[in-house]
Amino acid sequence: MKIKPFDVFDSAPVLADVPLLAAAGESLHYLDNAATTQKPNAVIDAISDCYRQHNAPVHRGLYDLAENASQLYETARRTLAKFIGAASDQLIFTRSATESINMVAQGWLRPRLNKGDQIWLTRMEHHANYLPWQALCRDNGARLRIIELNQDGTLDLENCTGLYDASTKLIALTQVSNVLGVINPLKEICAKAAGQGIAVMIDAAQSVGHMPVDVTELDCDFLVFSAHKMFGPNGIGALYGKAERLNQMEPLLLGGGMVDHVSQCDSIWMPYPTKFEAGSQNLADALGFAAAVNWIRQHDMHAMHAHVTELTQYALDSLAKLNNVEIYGPRDAEQRAGIVSFNLTDVHPHDVGQIAGERGVAIRAGHHCCQPLMQQLGIAATARASFAPYNNRNDVDALIESLHAAQALMG
Ligand SMILES: Cc1ncc(COP(=O)(O)O)c(C=O)c1O
Repeated sequence: MKIKPFDVFDSAPVLADVPLLAAAGESLHYLDNAATTQKPNAVIDAISDCYRQHNAPVHRGLYDLAENASQLYETARRTLAKFIGAASDQLIFTRSATESINMVAQGWLRPRLNKGDQIWLTRMEHHANYLPWQALCRDNGARLRIIELNQDGTLDLENCTGLYDASTKLIALTQVSNVLGVINPLKEICAKAAGQGIAVMIDAAQSVGHMPVDVTELDCDFLVFSAHKMFGPNGIGALYGKAERLNQMEPLLLGGGMVDHVSQCDSIWMPYPTKFEAGSQNLADALGFAAAVNWIRQHDMHAMHAHVTELTQYALDSLAKLNNVEIYGPRDAEQRAGIVSFNLTDVHPHDVGQIAGERGVAIRAGHHCCQPLMQQLGIAATARASFAPYNNRNDVDALIESLHAAQALMG
């Protein structure tokens, strides 16, 4: 996607539409969007309206209020499914990207993973897309294999012998690294995997809502994401699966609402998506999730993405002018999402985070739930700034000033 000039996108109305940021004004430069995004009015209103006007059990009541709640819930599902190019019934509401990944690991892969099989991940995976597979390999005697990285943080796809072997049962990888910001070449990997009958699960926690993501175009088997990383509420996520995979997959949670028939010793599940949504549905957050998608659409995701890319390039260029700085991942913002990890070699990242925080600049410092990547980089932690459409150059300038201050104090 080509970067548009800065004046094409005006971040001011977007910021004004996010009450927490609008109230904070210049006292807060929120650059921790990869951890969680701030919420626009439309999302807050959708949740509030739900409890004020629509609250009722979903798929359970025969009175008007309950039937309306069920319709709203299914409309939210349709909105989300359409947003990622999926059929409605292939979009399952979960609690998070983490839960979605665990559902695939336990419900789909565990029963079909044998001794000697391989699961491939990449060096840049978040613990959410690492631990479930590590545990499965340990339990089933399978091998955990890793696609390593090139010097610039991109995937080294030339040197992963055996990736598309018959023993590979799954390739599980992120679309965007939450540390390096790298955007991975998923279409190429999915096409090669499909040719060998290998399933691919995409962790899209950092990409859906920030760049176009279409499961039909990608031709992936599973894709997971979280509402709170795309301007929606906390505590709700989604899982997409191909029809064939969802038919094969067993539900993790058993209970009310997901069964067709229960007798004393046996039960018959409902078809997907219902069989994966046991218990009472989270209507308010589903409506908030759909409101986030409509908000993104209303502001034009392409324009927002171009703005974030240009801001990221500005941040990369500004950081590069500092003394004693190490930047991780590609220097070209076109190759990444709006995430920049760096270290000041003379100041510990936790001190960087604290000093920036004292100046109203909210960044993250730590291992970002990516310890295998940190080990490979030979570091324990980084500082990380991550951008959203409501950010602007002032936020980057405030970050750079806080880094100068950190170096003056601690360097
Ligand atoms: C790349 C990636 N995958 C998965 C997750 C887990 O998301 P959640 O905590 O919403 O389940 C995160 C969260 O930071 C992430 O950055």
